[in-house]
Amino acid sequence: MTLLDVNKLSISFGGLRAVDDFNLQIEKGELYGLIGPNGAGKTTVFNLLTGVYKPNEGIIKLDGEDITRKNTVQINQAGIARTFQNIRLFKQMSVIDNVKVGLSERFKYSAIEGILHVGKYRKVEKEMNEEAMKLLKVFDLDGEKDTLASNLPYGKQRKLEIARAMATDPKLLLLDEPAAGMNPNETKELMDTISLVRKEFGMTILLIEHDMKLVSGICEKLTVLNFGRVLCQGETKEVLANPEVIKAYLG
Ligand SMILES: Nc1ncnc2c1ncn2[C@@H]1O[C@H](COP(=O)(O)OP(=O)(O)O)[C@@H](O)[C@H]1O
Ligand SMILES: [Mg+2]
Repeated sequence: MTLLDVNKLSISFGGLRAVDDFNLQIEKGELYGLIGPNGAGKTTVFNLLTGVYKPNEGIIKLDGEDITRKNTVQINQAGIARTFQNIRLFKQMSVIDNVKVGLSERFKYSAIEGILHVGKYRKVEKEMNEEAMKLLKVFDLDGEKDTLASNLPYGKQRKLEIARAMATDPKLLLLDEPAAGMNPNETKELMDTISLVRKEFGMTILLIEHDMKLVSGICEKLTVLNFGRVLCQGETKEVLANPEVIKAYLG
C-alpha cells in the first residue's frame, strides 16, 4: 500500500528551481532515505510536504488523501510529523512536558487545563503521563523525564525531538538530518533508535541525510537529489550501483 504519493512537485524561489519535477512513492512501513549535497532541495521537499511552502506545481497524496493545498496544522492532523534540521524543542520545559505538547492534540487537552489541573482533566492527565512515559521508554529517555530539555546532551535532544513528533501519532515521520552534529557513538545510537521506532510502531519514515554511508546502512530505498532534481531513485543496492551516484558519492 502506497502511503505517500508525490507527483511532479516543483517550486521556484525567484529564478531558482529549488525542487523540480519531483516524484516519490513511499510504501507503508518503509524506511526511505532522501539524500543529496547541501542545497540540493531536501529540506525544501519537507517544507512542501508539510505545507510550509505551497508548490508551483504538483500533487501530494497521503494515504489517498490530497493534502497539496493544506496548511501545516491540517497536514499534521492528516498524519505527517517532522523534525527540523536545527533542533526545535521547548528548551525551558521538561523532557516529559515536551512529549506532552505533542500528545495534547490527540488528547484534545490545552496547556492551560494542564496548568490548572481541573478535576475532570485529572484522568486525561494521567493517561497522557502514561502515554508519554511509554514513548520516552522507547527512546531511552524515561530516566530523564523531569530534566529540562536544554540540560540534555545534544544526542538526547535529537531523540526527544523525534519522541515529540511521534507523540502526534503520525502515519509518516519526516526526519531532517537527525544525525547532524552528532559524534559517531550518538549517531550509532540514533540509527538504532530509528530502526526501533520503525519496528515498535510499524512507522513509515522518510529520512534526510547527506552521508550516503549512513542512510544506505538502514534505508531500503533511496532518492538522490541534485540541484532540485532526482538523480537516481530506487532500491538502495540499485542506487549504490548507479554510475552517476558512484561518481558523485562513492568515487
Ligand atoms: N525560502 C527560500 N527562499 C529562497 N531560497 C530558498 C528558500 N528555501 C530554500 N531556498 C533555496 O533552495 C535551495 C535548496 O535548499 P534546501 O532545500 O534547504 O537544501 P538542502 O536541505 O538539500 O540542503 C537552496 O539553494 C536554498 O538557498
Ligand atoms: Mg536541509
